[in-house]
Amino acid sequence: MTRPTLEDAELLRVDAFINGRWQSLPDTFLVKNPSTGSPLVAVANGSRELTREAIEVASAAFASWRRTPAKERSEILRRWFEAVVAAEDDLALLMTLEQGKPLHESRAEVRYGAAFLEWFSEEARRIYGDTLPAEKSDRRMMVLKEPVGVVGAITPWNFPIAMITRKAAAALAAGCTIVVKPAEDTPLCALALAELARRVGVPAGVFNVIPTAEPNPVGHELCTHPLVRKLTFTGSTKVGQALLAKCAPTVKRVTMELGGNAPFIVFEDADLDAAVHGAIAAKFRNAGQTCICANRLLVQASVHDTFVEKLVAAVKQLVVGDGRDPAVHMGPLIHEEAAHNVLQMVETALDGGAQLAIGGQYTRRGAPFVSPTVLTQVRPEMSVSAEEIFGPVAPVTVFQDEKEAIEIANGTPYGLAAYVYARDIGRVWRVMESLEYGMVAINTGTLSTEVAPFGGMKQSGLGREGSHYGIDEYVEIKYGVLGGLDT
Ligand code: SIN
Repeated sequence: MTRPTLEDAELLRVDAFINGRWQSLPDTFLVKNPSTGSPLVAVANGSRELTREAIEVASAAFASWRRTPAKERSEILRRWFEAVVAAEDDLALLMTLEQGKPLHESRAEVRYGAAFLEWFSEEARRIYGDTLPAEKSDRRMMVLKEPVGVVGAITPWNFPIAMITRKAAAALAAGCTIVVKPAEDTPLCALALAELARRVGVPAGVFNVIPTAEPNPVGHELCTHPLVRKLTFTGSTKVGQALLAKCAPTVKRVTMELGGNAPFIVFEDADLDAAVHGAIAAKFRNAGQTCICANRLLVQASVHDTFVEKLVAAVKQLVVGDGRDPAVHMGPLIHEEAAHNVLQMVETALDGGAQLAIGGQYTRRGAPFVSPTVLTQVRPEMSVSAEEIFGPVAPVTVFQDEKEAIEIANGTPYGLAAYVYARDIGRVWRVMESLEYGMVAINTGTLSTEVAPFGGMKQSGLGREGSHYGIDEYVEIKYGVLGGLDT
């Protein structure tokens, strides 16, 4: 066991966090460092019963949290934001240790995650209702916005802090309480967030964390318990579909941030150096393990060879290794099975006629470190193009014209993020409007920010997170009519 050493040792928590208290459990599971395979620490293994207890506690806390003045909720979230920013070094180290991403990416994620706390601390004070011109003279009509209630959150391992704060900050700002089930690979960041929440005065029961190595029973309870009024999930489309079905009998509100198959389209009028720069960011961030990663590079025939040459040259510069090494650009995949599956996809593509431009194997360190890979002559129907890769593989497909690019890009059940590189302003608008995606990035490889709505169309999800739209997911709209005014 290689226990993490933090400047603030109290941020390393291993128990469940319920009702503002740490609860140790007889059953535990090991959290491992994907770079070394070594166990870091044993963490409490939460059960279905414990989840039920947390839901009941969150329901009791809801009664007073919803009535807490918005200004006070805002100030508490602001203090949480400041505490997260102040703990950047420790949180980033924890993240790199349990998730594998390079320290500079972990630091960026801590700031990105904190930004949601800041943003929603500001939004908390601006959840306005409405008055409506009534259709009868003796009436007045209004619209109130009220918190949904207890929220269940199931969060992924690829962004162990930001995917929690993006949900919890909006929920708490609206006056909801929340029970979070972090991914079994990365509970330490979630528990550190809980410790900071406790310190800054988030009231008992408002923010609860159930770490577990058994996602199914805990997830089942969050989806089926009648006191949970909303489920918010980030993860794969397959799991999202199963959770939606479980939520149906109690007709819960849902936000689903699901899988993606992002096209990265390079037109012949693009600045190719900028496009390569953007492709590296959009493809290899977090070793390709993000829902908005460029999943397939669509390149116009006339610039294909030049683009591929420049891309391969840039990929050669990427250093893969343990994320704690400051020279490293890309860490391991989350575990060996994930790495194996990614290389299997590469193998299948090569068998089907794709060409290997670079990579296609484990690095010298072996699994789960996969070399950044570029494949050419990929056809849209190949699994490496049609399915979400979740690894550092860039499949390149040639297209002839705008119409074909759009057809290929939209030829998928997914619709999360798309990237376009072009200079012709008419083309930029036409393509942006034609793409069936919730987020379209033009001439940039990065789009995530707290100020913009994050979410997808089609089978990539329901609802939006972040931005002023994000709060809508956590409020009910109540219409009130006041009659009899003329008598
Ligand atoms: C995700 O991959 O689920 C989130 C990515 C982001 O917020 O940038």
